[in-house]
Amino acid sequence: MTMTEFLTQHLQGEHATGLAAILGNVELAVKKIATAIDEGAIAGNMGSLDSENIQGEVQKTLDVITNDIFVEALLKSGCVAGMISEEVIDPIQVASSNGQYLLCFDPLDGSSNVNVNISVGTIFSVLKANNIKPELNDFLQAGTQQIVAGYALYGTSTMLVLTTGNGVNGFTLNKKTNQFVLTHPNMQIPQDTTEFAINMSNYRFWQEPVQHYIDECLQGTEGERDKDFNMRWVASMVAEVHRILVRGGVFMYPSDAKSKMGKLRLMYEANPMSFIVEQAGGGSTTGAQRVLEINPAGIHQRIPIILGSKNEIDRIAGYHLVKKRKR
Ligand code: AHG
Ligand code: MN
Ligand code: MN
Repeated sequence: MTMTEFLTQHLQGEHATGLAAILGNVELAVKKIATAIDEGAIAGNMGSLDSENIQGEVQKTLDVITNDIFVEALLKSGCVAGMISEEVIDPIQVASSNGQYLLCFDPLDGSSNVNVNISVGTIFSVLKANNIKPELNDFLQAGTQQIVAGYALYGTSTMLVLTTGNGVNGFTLNKKTNQFVLTHPNMQIPQDTTEFAINMSNYRFWQEPVQHYIDECLQGTEGERDKDFNMRWVASMVAEVHRILVRGGVFMYPSDAKSKMGKLRLMYEANPMSFIVEQAGGGSTTGAQRVLEINPAGIHQRIPIILGSKNEIDRIAGYHLVKKRKR
């Protein structure tokens, strides 16, 4: 079944027409981005620019190319009133639109991987526009308000994984027909896992509950957990979340002494991924709070995030709770 056929069958209710238009254009954008990434150095798409984004990160050539592809495609949907992007400081207003929706996106996630030919992705989420000329405040909605979230993974295959709040489905790009086909219906994250993903080089900066959890994992059969753990770190959240959706695991970018609010951005990284993970039966927390319930303070706000297999996430949240009670 193609993604278009799937959406025709499954999108229902007041949002069906608008979301079909938006997702159709997301699909077009993702195909173009996949081509730009595939061509890599041949098309001169590698390397960095002189510019920095709002986070003070040096922009890669592909950060800007993919942002432009996404904006242009979504302007065409006619359903979007405004957009925010990791690569653009202010909200993008869609002047002549009667659009009912807002789009939040990270056009190229894990962009430090581009030059070394490792997986990258795109993350997006759709909110209802309460105003046809949306201002910054209109975007500041909690993650529970998202009506669609998804990511594209440009890995060994190009995939699009989506939720509309009714489970999670994954589609793979058939390069012969140039169509996404349903290959991963109703994705479910196993409740238990023995695999974690965290940037271990930050160990000395972490707070005690995270150090405690990782210490236990490292002790394996010789410690409290009485089982050995495995570790992965791709440095691309999309690739890590996809692995967790396929075989379980835990992904953490927690608060630490260097960055109290963690590294990842709430509106276009943490919220969409938390929606997808919860829809697949997993959990997502800052340590202290369910990510989806945070009231955003800014469109580029960062947030600590710990997500994945439900029983591990509950355990880690429990460690944070014990720490809080002791204070
Ligand atoms: P982006 O490329 O959009 O800035 O995001 C990269 C993020 C995330 O995808 C990944 O998990 C993390 O940064 C990697 O961080 P380290 O540099 O600490 O490995
Ligand atoms: Mn990112
Ligand atoms: Mn990015």
